[in-house]
Amino acid sequence: MSQYDVIIIGAGPGGYVSAIRCAQLGLKTAVVEGRETLGGTCLNVGCIPSKALLHASHLLHEAEHNFASMGLKGKSPSVDWKQMKSYKDDVIGQNTGGIEFLFKKNKIDWLKGYGSIEAAGKVKVGDTTYDTKNIVIASGSVPSSLPGVEVDNGKGIVVDSTGALELPKVPKKMVVIGAGVIGLELGSVYARLGTEVTVVEYMDAVCPGMDADVQRTFKKILEKQGLKFIMGAAVQGVEASKTKAKVTYQPKKGGDDATIDADVVLVATGRKPYAEGLGLDKLGVKMTERGQVAVDAHWATNVPGIYAIGDVIEGPMLAHKAEDEGMAVADVLAGNHGHVNYGVIPGVVYTAPEVATVGATEAALKAEGRKFKVGKFSFMGNARAKAVHQADGFAKIIVDAETDRVLGAAIIGPSAGDMIHEICVAMEFGASAQDIALTCHAHPTYSEAVREAALACGDGPIHA
Ligand code: NAI
Repeated sequence: MSQYDVIIIGAGPGGYVSAIRCAQLGLKTAVVEGRETLGGTCLNVGCIPSKALLHASHLLHEAEHNFASMGLKGKSPSVDWKQMKSYKDDVIGQNTGGIEFLFKKNKIDWLKGYGSIEAAGKVKVGDTTYDTKNIVIASGSVPSSLPGVEVDNGKGIVVDSTGALELPKVPKKMVVIGAGVIGLELGSVYARLGTEVTVVEYMDAVCPGMDADVQRTFKKILEKQGLKFIMGAAVQGVEASKTKAKVTYQPKKGGDDATIDADVVLVATGRKPYAEGLGLDKLGVKMTERGQVAVDAHWATNVPGIYAIGDVIEGPMLAHKAEDEGMAVADVLAGNHGHVNYGVIPGVVYTAPEVATVGATEAALKAEGRKFKVGKFSFMGNARAKAVHQADGFAKIIVDAETDRVLGAAIIGPSAGDMIHEICVAMEFGASAQDIALTCHAHPTYSEAVREAALACGDGPIHA
């Protein structure tokens, strides 16, 4: 008889959420995790610690730039970096401890150590092999660097997102390689703390793949906040000494290589799926060309009894996508129908202002030859945003030209990451822009901008 109904490998947002749902559905569940705390990259060295630093640095920015005009005079606070890091660590501790509590509450066993799969139904952790009916691989992803760029988080000169959270001091000059989500969030943190930040990006726009309108506005706002950009530049290599680094890049449009010096270089050029040491080769688990575990529509691999979810399979590397898959695969294992609507997975950049998107972009719809309409509303017409000096940005809704059904949205503005869910719910229910426009929105709220964007899809917004 099997000891477990399911063993999940990895306690990140995919794995731990899946474990809790499995347990709630009556399955005897264990999770293998080698880190000292639960929560994976997200809670330990990703989403959560970066949000703590974004919050603290945002308050400093507000004090330096907006307090005086609101009648709050006096010296701006100075940065106690050691204390800021300890605040961040405290936030991590509270969250990882919370997951441990939930494991106990749901009677989930934490098998401490890094596991490998001996065969379908057999997971080895340390010297012990556990029997299980099913295995879910939720081993996540790790930062991927560039050829010619050696990351050494311990030295604190050339770092990835993990090292950037632990720098010994706030650097004077930082070069960020990659204007993706990580580069812009962490670049913002340091720019607000006083670092001169230059972002070197291969593409001609920030956040590749995002709504073009948002990309333009976002870059302008970040420039206003002091970030510098070198666009269309392919980083060729980084030379590091004990205290400094030199980044060499090649302009895409041609010409000689150029260099830029920094105290710290943050490599933010993407992440890659992580399945090392699991023994998937030996088991014959099929992988995709991009090194992801290949799964079918029910997250099953080609080996019966082995499933995979989250960053290690295809799709956006987002904690909430992994969580949804975690809950859905639990349903599959419990004999129910598990479902994830991949068309409605929001993406959020937690800068100030926040950027949030969901569904189709105009560019994608154009490429498909679909007829669509766009309703756009600037936060300049939103009283609440103006009252708090956060009127940069806009809300934009894209609808089918004939049916008015919401196909996508992009918001750049205050609390965009929370507001986007109104659109997500609308899309899940197949709602039209008119449905949103006819829904009473409290005044004065930022959400009124979403309603105005919906109105802009029809007879027109009120405050524009
Ligand atoms: P990314 O894929 O978002 O951006 C990487 C950037 O690096 C791209 O713009 C790319 O063009 C650029 N790049 C690549 N090679 C280059 C070179 N040689 N020279 C110059 N530029 C180069 O990757 P990022 O920001 O590292 O994030 C990794 C993953 O983590 C993403 O999937 C992201 O969605 C996820 N993440 C999500 C967060 C959120 O939802 N708020 C926060 C942090 C990470």
